[in-house]
Amino acid sequence: MPIELPDAPRINPSILAADFVNMQAELARIASADFAHVDVMDNHFVPNLTFGPQMVERIQATSPIPLDVHLMITDPDRWAPGYAEIGAASVTFHLEAAAEPVALARRLRGIGARAGVAIKPETPGESLYDILDEFDQILVMTVEPGFGGQGFRSDTMPKLRALVQEAARRGSDVWFQVDGGISDRTIAEAAEAGADTFVAGSAVYGADDVEAAVTRLRDLARAASLDE
Ligand code: DX5
Ligand code: ZN
Repeated sequence: MPIELPDAPRINPSILAADFVNMQAELARIASADFAHVDVMDNHFVPNLTFGPQMVERIQATSPIPLDVHLMITDPDRWAPGYAEIGAASVTFHLEAAAEPVALARRLRGIGARAGVAIKPETPGESLYDILDEFDQILVMTVEPGFGGQGFRSDTMPKLRALVQEAARRGSDVWFQVDGGISDRTIAEAAEAGADTFVAGSAVYGADDVEAAVTRLRDLARAASLDE
């Protein structure tokens, strides 16, 4: 059943910063957020390892909010459709890892997921210009993928701005997501550059009051996008 899509600005807490052995309770803490961001890492595309399809299937069954799956894996052409079949609302793979990104996006959409594509800080945004329409969301990484708790990279903002302008020029309603180092201090900068969906791990799970942290991030993003 298609889910009702939340309005921008969307806050997607990353469960990478959660306590993995208390996942059910950790998911319950983010019930007021928009999507639960699930970082799948294979210790190959990135030098870190998290969880695979079986765990994500249990997270999907347990989460009070829809899943936003971020695949930091080699060979997403083979593995990504399985995450859509589990019922993830969105499945994002890395452009750098995909052999046939357009064919893969079409398969994900065909299964009923939102198709997302992510680019690392050094990957040029221009590589997506001609295929923007094939995706529902673009993830501009604001850190090198692999680990939570890194510093936000402002040097990725010109690329985000240019992609947002290009999407507007083409009349596309694709979402723009940022991931890495998003906090009370950095979210306005990303919102001003045109991001509408914000992944935050340590800023949410590191807070004493997780629900208040989500609300604060959303308020800061909204204020910054209204300023633009
Ligand atoms: C990093 C992951 C992020 C990570 C963000 O490779 O993709 O989703 O959890 O963590 P913070 O918000 O702590 O930078
Ligand atoms: Zn992520």
